[in-house]
Amino acid sequence: MTLLALTGVTVGWPGQAAILSDLNFSLDRGARLGVVGPNGSGKTSLFHTISGILAAQGGAVRLSGQPVRSGQFLPEVALVFQQADDQLFCPTLLEDVAFGARNLGLSADEVERRVVAALRDCGLTGLEDRPVYQLSGGEKRRACIAGALVMQPSLMLLDEPSAALDLRSRRRLITLLEGMDQAMLIASHDLELLLDLCARVIVLDGGRICADGPARDVLGNAALMAAHGQEVPHSLTPHDTARHDHRL
Ligand SMILES: Nc1ncnc2c1ncn2[C@@H]1O[C@H](COP(=O)(O)OP(=O)(O)OP(=O)(O)O)[C@@H](O)[C@H]1O
Ligand SMILES: [Mg+2]
Repeated sequence: MTLLALTGVTVGWPGQAAILSDLNFSLDRGARLGVVGPNGSGKTSLFHTISGILAAQGGAVRLSGQPVRSGQFLPEVALVFQQADDQLFCPTLLEDVAFGARNLGLSADEVERRVVAALRDCGLTGLEDRPVYQLSGGEKRRACIAGALVMQPSLMLLDEPSAALDLRSRRRLITLLEGMDQAMLIASHDLELLLDLCARVIVLDGGRICADGPARDVLGNAALMAAHGQEVPHSLTPHDTARHDHRL
């Protein structure tokens, strides 16, 4: 069942030339799609367009069949910002994580239940009263993810979710996202994370979608990866297993 559908979408900032043109793809409920592309290729701008922050310059973004209009409150979609400081704004961690759930008009009990669960899932329990500006980079990133989780959206847009995370936090994030049934678009330079989480990826470069297919086929295509400034992830690179066996 299709949740998100883009038809002929043009992405661009007001008064500026288009960044991405003629985007066509759809995403089923519960599906996870990786978004790969060099710096400045338009991943973040695409996410802003899908979430209705930035108006599409052309074409249509549809969510559950309904056109997304910019400026509209979309409780079904939660964007986790690439820069945590762009997202966090409340005095304390607790207030920040609760903000989205309170905005949905839920009962105080339900807000508390969701906030406690999100803080636990993101490894932030105990930091509730910490001012957000005193959190570490990785804690801020996890706070942003917790703030999205409390909304229980049907679509999560995760912009570089593993940036600034240490290896344990990164693995915990992968496990958390793997266990969720929400649909996700995940923009990342962490191609191993995309391989773990996404059956399908798209590659953005030169203003368009250059590839759209199974993650292992696309990310394992050395010529395609090189043409778009990427490298085949280590786990898909053939190894001399006699000397370097990952199964050991
Ligand atoms: N608020 C903005 N106003 C005008 N132009 C912008 C704005 N944000 C980004 N851009 C421009 O849009 C283009 C695409 O940027 P975007 O941030 O979408 O790329 P990205 O693929 O997310 O890159 P990265 O991998 O570095 O995060 C860039 O040329 C950038 O300079
Ligand atoms: Mg970006």
